[in-house]
Amino acid sequence: MKTLGIETSCDETSVAVLDDDRIVASEVFSQDIHARFGGVVPELASRAHIAKIDVLAAAVFDAIKLPLSDIDLVAVTDSPGLAGALLVGISFALGIHTQAGIPVTGINHLEGHLYSLFCGTRRDIPYPFLGMLVSGGHTAIYLVHDFGRYDCLGQTVDDAAGEAFDKIGKLLGFAYPAGRAIEGEAAKATHDADIRFPVARMPDSSLDFSFSGLKTAVKYFCAEKGTDWVRENRPLVCRAFQKSVIDSLVRNLVAASTMTGIRTVGVAGGVACNTALRNAITDRFGERAFFPGPALCTDNAAMIARAGYERMKRNSLRFPRMSPSAGL
Ligand code: KG4
Ligand code: ZN
Repeated sequence: MKTLGIETSCDETSVAVLDDDRIVASEVFSQDIHARFGGVVPELASRAHIAKIDVLAAAVFDAIKLPLSDIDLVAVTDSPGLAGALLVGISFALGIHTQAGIPVTGINHLEGHLYSLFCGTRRDIPYPFLGMLVSGGHTAIYLVHDFGRYDCLGQTVDDAAGEAFDKIGKLLGFAYPAGRAIEGEAAKATHDADIRFPVARMPDSSLDFSFSGLKTAVKYFCAEKGTDWVRENRPLVCRAFQKSVIDSLVRNLVAASTMTGIRTVGVAGGVACNTALRNAITDRFGERAFFPGPALCTDNAAMIARAGYERMKRNSLRFPRMSPSAGL
């Protein structure tokens, strides 16, 4: 079965085709226009999606060498995301649906991230598992009973983990998005230098996260040390900040595992690209820790197509309905 995936929820325009769970073509365009503003500008994102979506679709069809009529399903992100950006993808998908009579389904972007774990992986992830989503917009742990059956066990009460990377990156002089650059800078540090940033503790047995206190702590630390010291010691600051985020993520994932008795974990979303995070989670969960390939961690249409394939198999297609703030 061939699924055409379309993703335009934020600042990546992406089109992909899957044959069952195997990616046969994938195009991702990351909009670098936002870098100079230090964050995503919604109206610019919508316009950039409009400029690129048909170019990427044409490239995908060139690569697969099949006509549109060979596509069995169009899967498009319809929630959550930037309203104008979502509308571009949904309109494009509905255009294909209307013109070519191909079935269409809306996909929740967060569900797409979880199903990036199932894109052409060599090993099947056994249900139930703990799915941790760590991206620029979301940070949460889900108990995944099965496709479509999720319990949210904990989520951020303020910033997402990726957002914390991006904000600290801005403070330290890196362009948006800064996660990868901070990881690279942290890797240059050879020791911890006794810098300890706080890991937020939530009340009782809560599995929620909070990163705003960490952000403030780094800000005051840098102000106190002064520009010259920070410039010379940037790798140490990045290393300490990154360690604090990772400690918080790993601590809650381990607590979720203890609480539920589930030892299989899947980690997805842009921050799951981070090698130090992957290593810390693999240290705790060994072979039962699953990650998508790095290209599938950040936003992409292959994961949306993968979730669409799952909906088709289960006879649970749903017409796209734009919902900018819908959770999973
Ligand atoms: O999943 P994604 O593409 O977009 C959202 O759905 O939000 O994630 C983007 C986020 C950005 O905040 C970016 O800084 C972060 O993922 N990111 C990383 C790394 N690569 C991307 N954070 C930490 N380490 C990385 N290597
Ligand atoms: Zn995302």
